[in-house]
Amino acid sequence: MIDGIGIDVVDIERFKASLERTPGLVEKLFTPAEQLKPIASLAARFAAKEALAKALSNEKGLPWHEAEIVNLENGKPEFLFRGQIADLIDGAKVHLSLSHDAGIASAMVVVERN
Ligand SMILES: CC(C)(COP(=O)(O)OP(=O)(O)OC[C@H]1O[C@@H](n2cnc3c(N)ncnc32)[C@H](O)[C@@H]1OP(=O)(O)O)[C@@H](O)C(=O)NCCC(=O)NCCS
Repeated sequence: MIDGIGIDVVDIERFKASLERTPGLVEKLFTPAEQLKPIASLAARFAAKEALAKALSNEKGLPWHEAEIVNLENGKPEFLFRGQIADLIDGAKVHLSLSHDAGIASAMVVVERN
């Protein structure tokens, strides 16, 4: 059954400006592998982490590095969870979809449990 859904949108230029003006922000938000992605993909990954927090109804901040987004061979994005977030997920299936176009990046997350 569906246990939670989350959605988020990010203005790519505004996000780029935030990363440029805030020292250490890119390292705080993204794992070393994620940091190699282009800005539109980074913005979509930020949206994905925010959408995940909504899907989990988590009001407290979660550690950003504990939800890493990787791409499968065919390009499909998937979350890899560690630590406290892996404990919260507790074996649930988490579906993720990303999109970026026209200056906006967006993500949708669905948490499914048996
Ligand atoms: C809850 C949170 C995700 C909201 O994000 P935001 O970018 O400030 O707000 P958005 O404009 O995208 O979304 C606002 C909507 O989120 C919804 N929302 C607010 N709190 C929420 C919660 N705890 N769970 C789910 N949805 C929530 C509301 O519907 C709100 O709109 P409304 O006030 O008109 O009803 C954000 O404040 C937060 O807690 N961020 C931390 C995320 C985090 O821990 N990230 C690490 C994950 S790896």
